[in-house]
Amino acid sequence: MSTAVTTKSPSDTAARYRSVRGQTLALCEPLTPEDMMVQSTPEASPAKWHLAHTAWFFESFVLGEFLPGYRLFNPDFPWLFNSYYLSFASFPEKRLRSSFSRPGLAEVLRYRQHVDEAVERLLDHNPQPEALQRIELGLNHEEQHQELLLTDILNAFHLNPIRPVYLPEGPAKNLGAPGLEPETGESSPPGSPSCPLRFQAFPGGLHEIGHSGPGFCYDNELPRHRVWLEPYALASRLVTCGEFAEFIADGGYRRHELWLSDGWAAVGRNGWQAPLYWARDSDSWNLFTLRGEQPLARMASAPVSHVSLFEADAYARWAGRRLATEFEWEAAAQGQSQPLTGNLLDSGRLLPAPAPEPAQSENQVQQMTGDCWEWTSSAYLGYPGYTPAAGALGEYNGKFMSGTMVLRGGSCVTPAAHIRSTYRNFFAPQTRWQFSGIRLAT
Ligand SMILES: [Fe+2]
Repeated sequence: MSTAVTTKSPSDTAARYRSVRGQTLALCEPLTPEDMMVQSTPEASPAKWHLAHTAWFFESFVLGEFLPGYRLFNPDFPWLFNSYYLSFASFPEKRLRSSFSRPGLAEVLRYRQHVDEAVERLLDHNPQPEALQRIELGLNHEEQHQELLLTDILNAFHLNPIRPVYLPEGPAKNLGAPGLEPETGESSPPGSPSCPLRFQAFPGGLHEIGHSGPGFCYDNELPRHRVWLEPYALASRLVTCGEFAEFIADGGYRRHELWLSDGWAAVGRNGWQAPLYWARDSDSWNLFTLRGEQPLARMASAPVSHVSLFEADAYARWAGRRLATEFEWEAAAQGQSQPLTGNLLDSGRLLPAPAPEPAQSENQVQQMTGDCWEWTSSAYLGYPGYTPAAGALGEYNGKFMSGTMVLRGGSCVTPAAHIRSTYRNFFAPQTRWQFSGIRLAT
């Protein structure tokens, strides 16, 4: 739920609406209708469901309340495509989403068109500020689902024995949205050394944490409040695949003393020997990506991704370091150049990329935005004074404040317009299917 005021006019909102909604469809262009039915793990959803659910959000929280005379596209859709809003309607079990062969893809696309035309009508009639804020919330919600759509299809293709490639490298193929032409350059030249790791010191003291000023934010970024920090240092870049391979080679997954108790249990229960999508290839590894299979030698200086909080914590312990708290991370990010830039979805790369050469960014902490979400050691909790919104939209963030940990910074599949230095992502500590990586702290 948003509580910050949107400053966009109806016409600016309409332009952003068309751009975000078009981007979702563009991301589906490389997919077949059959691809869009797959739910390869209970935590993921089929692409067709993402298409319908994001339309459902506008229908349920914008059009029903703010467009007089709005007619539902289908009376079953309000409950069928509800995700988890108990105050709104019932909903099917999440693991059953791949059973939705009906409605078919064509009907889901007509549903999106029906909703789009209604939102355009609403925006044409000088909507009240609350309606504009709800539309902005719906667009941020859709951007979250764009990232999920890609991480879910990566998981689905990894499970497929023939390992389909979402977007091959090579001749450019336009996905239909600006900025999404695939990059043809190598993710990192074979054997190229990683940028040297150093630690950037940050002062302790009283720091302000949380969103301020105009512009959209989620309720979990509020209220802005003060936090006391001891002096600390952050690694100048993310941990690379090559460095993580050294941890594996040193028996990292077999040494219980490196692991949190729940982490060690997860290693045993799941048979973890490497990050998700790594497969041993004689004496090295291959990594499955949205660009197809990549040898470790090619990804060695790119950030390691698809690790759980437990693996991030064990690596940090092995390296004699620790993970940052979310407050240390945010205080450091506030000092970075604005607006935030990095290897985000809009780069079209779809892979974590090596840090730039140190000469270009001396005294700066690199990769704070994009590449991989960074696990922090902070439990996901409400800030002091946090109050979820009333009604169904109060369920957006607040009810997940137990058993999850905060990640910061965005990833290579996060839309650029979606990320802020105050943005708090959160997942259960065993989660590996997101682009989640590691930054060391001390
Ligand atoms: Fe959702």
